[in-house]
Amino acid sequence: MTPASEHTEAVEALLHENRHFPPSAAFAAAATTDASIYAEASRDPEAWWAEQARTLAWERPFTTTLEWEVPFARWFADGTLNASVSCVDRHVAAGRGDKVALHWVGEPEGDRVDITYADLLVRISQAAHALTALGVRTGDRVAIYLPMIPEAVVAMLACARIGATHMVIFGGFAPDAIADRVLDADARFVVTADGGYRRGAAAALKPQVDDALRRCPEVAAVLVVRRTGQEVTWVEGRDHWWHELVEAQPERHEAEAFPAEHPLFIMYTSGTTARPKGIVHSTGGYLTQAATTHRIVFDIKADTDICWTSADVGWITGHSYVVYGPLSCGATVLMYEGAPNHPEPDRFWDIIDRHGVTIFYTAPTAIRAFMRWGDDYVKKHSLKSLRLLGSVGEPINPEAWMWYHTLIGKKRCPIVDTWWQTETGCIMVTPLPGITATTPGSCTLPFFGVVPKILDEQGHEVPRGGGGKLFLKNPWPSMLRTLWGDDERFKKQYWSELPGYYFAGDGARFDADGYLWVVGRIDDVLNVSGHRIGTAEVESALVSHPSVAEAAVVGRPDELKGQALVCFVTLKNNFTAAPELKEQLRAHVAKEIGSLARPDDVRFAAGLPKTRSGKIMRRILKEIAAGGIVKGDTTTLEDFNVVAALQAQEE
Ligand code: PRX
Repeated sequence: MTPASEHTEAVEALLHENRHFPPSAAFAAAATTDASIYAEASRDPEAWWAEQARTLAWERPFTTTLEWEVPFARWFADGTLNASVSCVDRHVAAGRGDKVALHWVGEPEGDRVDITYADLLVRISQAAHALTALGVRTGDRVAIYLPMIPEAVVAMLACARIGATHMVIFGGFAPDAIADRVLDADARFVVTADGGYRRGAAAALKPQVDDALRRCPEVAAVLVVRRTGQEVTWVEGRDHWWHELVEAQPERHEAEAFPAEHPLFIMYTSGTTARPKGIVHSTGGYLTQAATTHRIVFDIKADTDICWTSADVGWITGHSYVVYGPLSCGATVLMYEGAPNHPEPDRFWDIIDRHGVTIFYTAPTAIRAFMRWGDDYVKKHSLKSLRLLGSVGEPINPEAWMWYHTLIGKKRCPIVDTWWQTETGCIMVTPLPGITATTPGSCTLPFFGVVPKILDEQGHEVPRGGGGKLFLKNPWPSMLRTLWGDDERFKKQYWSELPGYYFAGDGARFDADGYLWVVGRIDDVLNVSGHRIGTAEVESALVSHPSVAEAAVVGRPDELKGQALVCFVTLKNNFTAAPELKEQLRAHVAKEIGSLARPDDVRFAAGLPKTRSGKIMRRILKEIAAGGIVKGDTTTLEDFNVVAALQAQEE
């Protein structure tokens, strides 16, 4: 692990940022909450959360709020509810069935569907019956590997409806990555599609699943959505078409309630080892925080807002702010299938104007891409419907923040820069629109009941202005409950750095005003274009290639992606360093993990810099990757010639 002090330099640069943007009077006047909420919620955050939880539809009301036996939290544990009822049925029952739940926009122009809450209920009910008919039972895990199409939302909520734990796998993952997740979660059912549209072409998905399932003989059924009409190979008895099976089912389905702590979903994410971690989320606590943060952080007016979170449902942002947050609030979601630059780089702005999107939530890496494509694409559109913007996934550089504020928000929309993680489930640190003054690059203040601490190597609190490791002190409703099937790893991974505190893996600092600045990961996890990638996963993919003896992967600062993936590789004796082999290795990693992990740079080395005890000195590799001169302490280095050789290669 890198010492937190190394990040101080980067934070130093950010701290020169002193622009403040107070909320506009007009926004504040119409906002759903005002500053009194801080005092109200802080008086007794647990009681406040219980009050928020009561806004969901409980079958049996809870009588306990929090049971906390570090590190295991149980929220609202004796209550029972059904997440799909809270997200859909109750809005229909309240006479809001005709309201649009989902404006779905396909990538091919003109391909769109509007789904009302009443329609959504029918689709979920039919899918719930279909899953049951395939043999899915409460407690089973169902893998979902779909493009951004309505069936992804329907499948998630159909699982929730019958108490099956869904495990959505991002559509960019390769067969091996799919198989690892299916096996780890012991999922016996898969929902997929023939393919999806991306940048004007139909990309195939089913073949990836077929390939993955060769390693997963326990999978009993695969439900396949026909999206692109591509040819598919079919395994009789295992594979079923969605349009044949689901659409033939009854339109009504009696939902059963499950205990609040029932696992709603598992989401795999990268960590410091080669094996991804299955983050387990609960039903009652998760849904409470998804609904509450969505309503307050995005200032939701459920009757009029059209909320667009551009993240894929294969990531936590899609779970919480495409599906569970907005639907539990009864809001209208905009969901877009494809790429931001198809057919032209103004597709997003065209969608916003066409559908009157009011709230837009995206990642800094996307904002930087829009900046690069040029302002003219933005200026062709009015964007007048927008009233609030959000950012998530990585630190936003002040330049991108200002561009977002000026070009997209026309200086009138507040920006909420929200810090959170797959593990936290929902937003944890964020400005509140209409209340908090914002500063470009800072995610500002903790949400209610969240207690961030910046601690040094010895576990002492770092005074304001000083950099350190980010910990969270108290439990929150949507916190991960464990790692799937591995309580020990859960304890070790998050709670052993400082007993009793959750270690976030990020470096951060409070400024003089008490605003939080998150600088980025300080463990061996990279953030490439907002995607979380473990260096160990990429290293393990590299050494699985016959030519590779040893590999070390580090991040290099990248203007567009945040971080780029740089791999240092030593080859086995009978292989020669050649440009074609670099390409082969890049392709090999993409094939093993998925194209999201394709290395930006592969460098061959005669040896890797190691300490005398044989540990790879990543700090040195990072400096070499960034093109800098190796500074700092190299006295523990075993052989300085290795560094000299790597640097010489660079020049
Ligand atoms: O490093 C932080 C960064 O993204 C990591 C979490 O990644 P993931 O689990 O994939 O979830 C991303 C979407 C919630 C964090 O450890 N991160 C996320 N949001 C921010 C951020 N860094 C700085 N500012 C943010 N607003």
